[in-house]
Amino acid sequence: MAGNRTFTMIKPDATAAGNAGAILKMIEEAGFRIVAIKKTKLTPELAGKFYEVHKERGFYGELCAYMSSGAIFPAILEKDNAVEDFRKLIGATNPANAEPGTIRALFAKSIEANAIHGSDSDENAAIEGAFFFAETERF
Ligand code: RTP
Ligand code: MG
Repeated sequence: MAGNRTFTMIKPDATAAGNAGAILKMIEEAGFRIVAIKKTKLTPELAGKFYEVHKERGFYGELCAYMSSGAIFPAILEKDNAVEDFRKLIGATNPANAEPGTIRALFAKSIEANAIHGSDSDENAAIEGAFFFAETERF
């Protein structure tokens, strides 16, 4: 049976730094299968929609500006226990608190420019995947 799915984005800082390939290698080596992936760039409006759950938080405006500041790689990933295992692989939001060897410990620049996104629940993984990919684009 296929494993379950999570959603990720390699964020503008990591994409601009040329770290997308190294990050995708870590993701595949950790046992995740890439179901869908593309390179794209969000407008501030689309970033605002994606992060709407954070609209009451103080960092929302900055987050939308940052997430639309450069190209990103959104992707859908598949593995048993995908959401939880992927959050472990990326590490804490603030790279200062991220476990050594995690993607954020290795590649994040700051609490905001923290290299990568990972869905926080199966429900949000499905919503976020559908934000970027049609059903016919998932293999
Ligand atoms: P993500 O959703 O991107 O995987 O990150 P997360 O769950 O670890 O963190 P979350 O609380 O959902 O925050 C979303 C993103 O907002 C930026 N952020 N900035 N300046 C700040 O204090 C601050 N706090 C969060 C980060 O880019 C974070 O990943
Ligand atoms: Mg989050």
